[in-house]
Amino acid sequence: MAKHIGILTAGGDSPGLNAAIRAVGKAAERSFAMNVIGFRDGFRGLVENRTVRLNGSALSGILTIGGTILGTSRDKPHRMPMGGRELDMTEVIIANYHKHNLDALVCLGGGGTMKNAYHLMQHGLNIITLPKTIDNDVAMTDVTFGFDTALGIATEAVDRLHSTAHSHHRIIVLEVMGHNAGWLALGAGLAGGADVILIPEIPYDVHSVADAILKRSQGGKGFSIVVVSEGALSTEAAAHLAELEAARAAAESKKERKAIKAQIEAFRLEQLNNTMRLTRQLEELTRLESRLTILGHLQRGGTPSAVDRLLATRLGTAAAELIEQEVYGVMVAARGEGAEPVPLEQVAGKRRVVPLDHPWIRSARLIGVNLGD
Ligand code: F6P
Repeated sequence: MAKHIGILTAGGDSPGLNAAIRAVGKAAERSFAMNVIGFRDGFRGLVENRTVRLNGSALSGILTIGGTILGTSRDKPHRMPMGGRELDMTEVIIANYHKHNLDALVCLGGGGTMKNAYHLMQHGLNIITLPKTIDNDVAMTDVTFGFDTALGIATEAVDRLHSTAHSHHRIIVLEVMGHNAGWLALGAGLAGGADVILIPEIPYDVHSVADAILKRSQGGKGFSIVVVSEGALSTEAAAHLAELEAARAAAESKKERKAIKAQIEAFRLEQLNNTMRLTRQLEELTRLESRLTILGHLQRGGTPSAVDRLLATRLGTAAAELIEQEVYGVMVAARGEGAEPVPLEQVAGKRRVVPLDHPWIRSARLIGVNLGD
């Protein structure tokens, strides 16, 4: 009997999503004679039963297009805003899954999607996930698709900022995305030849950064490029966060834990606006004119790189093969040149940050890049 599969994309969009949808869909249809439908706007489309038939013509011409033809949202199955209230829509999702006679649901997403997909798996659905995010922070995979494209865009920004920083003898701070992982900042900073790179994994001391810039200036380099991850924290902020985390771990009641969690979230949100403060501090400490560039969603938009197209195609076709073999409850991870199923329970709720002994960190230190410590 021909299998029926559903595909959805959830979380922030990422270059390579359409390449992955195409790969799953074409392999499923052409090689295994499966019927494929897409759900619009992430898990919300599954609740509201908004579908699109993903046949040959729908899958044609999308390989090079950015974003996702299915649309996306950050809605969670068990806490979905519905008419002004947050409701658990898990049962509705299960009913719609069966209504479409699905044999499997393919969820393309990042860390949040892995958790949501795992939740549906625990409720008995056959789930397969693919790791996408420009942040590159999904656990148990070598890499996520979207990262290479964003890395290229951020690196080009560093390149372009060099000439204007150099001409004006300025400090230019470039804020890049990455959530609480420093892959994008470290990669783009290193590839673009930044003088300072600040990532969430290494709390920074603004005086150490200012000293490094002043040394450059005394050595005749009147400009500096500082690449900062949006999640980077000063040593003071990191210490405060550690205190809050310790208080949360020690909290005796659920109510207390919830209140501290809200404080942590509010503090992290406040820190997101930190790069303007850092830019001002560096100007004051070095007396060098400073400017801030926030790259924002430019990093997520537009056509995927060849590397991301290849990765998305490799993982997407592997997903179709796994469904044919009825291997469910897994994320299709990138491993070396191949793809490997990893049980979802090993992925959900985990995040892959930059290890402090990562070769990129070692290389950055060896060539004299200041990492803020
Ligand atoms: O997870 C991808 C990401 O681009 C992060 O780097 C960033 O923190 C976040 O999404 C931004 O989300 P939104 O587009 O919802 O503002």
